[in-house]
Amino acid sequence: MKIAIMGAMPEEVEPLLKFFGEYETIKYANNNYYKVNYKNSEIVIAYSKIGKVNSTITASTMIQKFGCEKLLFSGVAGAVSPDLKVGDLVVATKLGQHDLDISAFGHPYGFVPEGAVYEETDKDLIQIAKSVAKEKSLDLKEGIIVTGDQFVCDNERKEWIAKTFQADALEMEGASVALTCNALNVPVFILRAISDAADMDASFSFDEFMISSAKISADFVITMIDKIIDA
Ligand code: ADE
Repeated sequence: MKIAIMGAMPEEVEPLLKFFGEYETIKYANNNYYKVNYKNSEIVIAYSKIGKVNSTITASTMIQKFGCEKLLFSGVAGAVSPDLKVGDLVVATKLGQHDLDISAFGHPYGFVPEGAVYEETDKDLIQIAKSVAKEKSLDLKEGIIVTGDQFVCDNERKEWIAKTFQADALEMEGASVALTCNALNVPVFILRAISDAADMDASFSFDEFMISSAKISADFVITMIDKIIDA
């Protein structure tokens, strides 16, 4: 089996590269892809760089050039739900684009014709995540995650996103990755650990907790790999 694991920033994939240890580096489309042989499977790891366009290119490359059959995303997010605190793990059941707006033509926010407001994620992969969480006694929350090409650090914007999308967390890549995988029929899993509360203190909180939260998320994905291969 070929499995893709991607993040957006170097810090989000460094724990994975450290865990697997040996990898081949392939340069393609202005990015590095790290190929690992693991238990008769191939794992391709990459960080896309931040944002919807970069993450779309990387997810598409993972699938169309490297032939990945499942894609897992690991990284950090800002909390929208007051129940989510720094370090909490949240897996996306569905994702939307909070900055996609043709409401001037009467469409709902996040919607374009022939598209959908939300992209769903793979239920089997979520099931595997839940069983790992149970075995390791880790708290794994499920929720709606929204994506946009902006670092949200403003309560008013956050409240609008909460109300409009019923979102639990927000970040800058998940929905575009899910949309790409769904278009190409590849099961997708999006996991995030909270780094900040998307409020006026978000940039300070992000700087303080990004590395530790990125590791919490990456460590969790590592524990899922054997189960995915054996499934
Ligand atoms: N990723 C982590 N925190 C974020 C925030 N506040 N806005 C956008 N993406 C994020």
